[in-house]
Amino acid sequence: MNQDDASASPTYAGPERILSGVQTSGALHLGNYLGALVKFVRLQDQAECLFFLADLHAITAWQDPELMVPQMRQIAAAYIASGVDPKKAIIFPQSAVHEHAELAWIFNCVARVGWLERMTQFKDKTGKDREGASVGLYDYPVLQAADILLYKATHVPVGEDQKQHLELTRDIAQKFNNDFSAPGFFPLVEPVIEGPGARVMSLRDGLSKMSKSDPSDQSRINLLDDADAIAQKIRRAKTDPEPLPETVEDLKGRPEANNLVGIYAALAGTAKAQVLAEFGGKGFGIFKPALAELTVHKIAPIGEEMRRLMNEPAEMDRILLAGVEKAQSIAAPILAETKRLVGFWSPKRNA
Ligand code: TYM
Repeated sequence: MNQDDASASPTYAGPERILSGVQTSGALHLGNYLGALVKFVRLQDQAECLFFLADLHAITAWQDPELMVPQMRQIAAAYIASGVDPKKAIIFPQSAVHEHAELAWIFNCVARVGWLERMTQFKDKTGKDREGASVGLYDYPVLQAADILLYKATHVPVGEDQKQHLELTRDIAQKFNNDFSAPGFFPLVEPVIEGPGARVMSLRDGLSKMSKSDPSDQSRINLLDDADAIAQKIRRAKTDPEPLPETVEDLKGRPEANNLVGIYAALAGTAKAQVLAEFGGKGFGIFKPALAELTVHKIAPIGEEMRRLMNEPAEMDRILLAGVEKAQSIAAPILAETKRLVGFWSPKRNA
């Protein structure tokens, strides 16, 4: 990343800052790892980073109160086990920094109902039961915009499914800056989405996204799966009968083959073309064992380290508390300035 990357927001003069979060609503899978966590690790040396545990977002669907803290610690453990270094990146639970919810309210009054009506994730998640969904689920993308702009983050590493939410974040920033005559106050965030891991598909159906809500556990590789489970899921992954093609173009119309080649490329840190240069013309009988070996090599140690960290709750809590303090020291002045722009009273306000 260089200075040019912030050029989409020419009037914003602040420093580059990277932020992202993962919902604390269940076990993480290979899609979360390749779409988000791998990028967190790559970016932590490039600018100030905040990676939070999105527990406010998690309660947009019912969560057992007893499981809230263990689930939150599990995601924090996944970050660290994947290579996020708490000495470099700020890791904290979203609900412990109350400014997120406060800025979300202000943004509720900036965002338009028409904008939220277009959000496809809400439609996908509710299906026909729109009436029974929580208001929080509808408002989810506004809270996400608050998460990002509370720190004036400039870059947000996420999977492809979050693209629309980041466009909404840009719209909210732009409208706020216009409405309150504060050009460049909030930056126009740049998504960091590229790469073969941006959209990992189900192992059972190459046309649907790998997801924690899929009822079939065979459809995904969980970060807590052991080596045997990982290898078995890859052996059983759906494929077609043809050998792998020589070119990326020829993966078109072959969603399962495309997905497995993409997973291999993302795990190996290379491009699909590179993988096909090695495996093009070979059948899945050769490719699947190679993919299983690579996946076990990369993922099984993360699961082991997660288990170790989850057995050290005091150590985890020390990291999270330090993260909350650092996050709040950035957030509080930005929220205070936002409230001043909106016109709210404050004891420190000049007459
Ligand atoms: P969540 O928990 O649903 O997803 C966490 C991250 O994993 C990515 N992801 C995938 N990437 C590739 N292939 C998949 N199959 C796949 N499934 C999930 C998601 O894109 C995401 O990057 N709304 C966010 C949480 C959030 C957030 C934020 C992110 C709340 N506030 C502010 C960035 C900035 C989410 O999707 O969480």
